[in-house]
Amino acid sequence: MKPACIFDLDGVIVDTAKYHYLAWKRLANSLGFDFTEHDNEQLKGVSRIESLKLILRLGDKQLDAEEFEAALVRKNACYLEYIQQIGPEEILPGAAAFLNSARAQGMKVALGSASKNAVLILERIQLLDQFDAIVDGNKVSKAKPDPEVFLKAAEELGVAASDCIVFEDAVAGVLAARHAGMKVVGIGAANVLDQAHFVLPNFAGLSITDVLAKFA
Ligand code: G6P
Ligand code: MG
Repeated sequence: MKPACIFDLDGVIVDTAKYHYLAWKRLANSLGFDFTEHDNEQLKGVSRIESLKLILRLGDKQLDAEEFEAALVRKNACYLEYIQQIGPEEILPGAAAFLNSARAQGMKVALGSASKNAVLILERIQLLDQFDAIVDGNKVSKAKPDPEVFLKAAEELGVAASDCIVFEDAVAGVLAARHAGMKVVGIGAANVLDQAHFVLPNFAGLSITDVLAKFA
């Protein structure tokens, strides 16, 4: 069967990872501790709730249920403020052309993201109609590195897990793809994403043919 592509969103297709980081940093600072870019690596790909739990552990801070809920709302409000202005110019280098190259080969394409804001972002960057299936944070109950999001995407596409190639910028996402029994291409730093089959710095100048050749 023809392989299918499953793309993560934040940090793979669009440059929103930096806004998630800034929003979490603001929240951490308001709670009285700092949150570095190094700490942030652990949060990439991780759901909003799990991210907050991790941040509170890093800051050695406890919140009661009500404060926890309020912190989630505050972080998302801050994130939405940051992404208010985004448009197609925030698509990462080469990502739109790469996606197109897969579609042009007749491959199916899905989104597999933990974000509950995924559809809003795809609308803003004008790529919503480029996906055959969208599985986002509203459709899954288990956060990456659980494979649920990618397995659901494969199911919606009607493709076997072993025929899917996942594109991920997060350690948790690479592991989720591995746990799903899929091929995974890391997007970012090779020393961070060392569980991926191989890593690309970004999609600039690449097409799906280059990736298929690596798996041949
Ligand atoms: C993505 C990002 C994470 C983010 C998660 C939930 O996976 O990499 O940093 O926490 O989505 O996003 P949301 O938009 O629902 O808060
Ligand atoms: Mg990501």
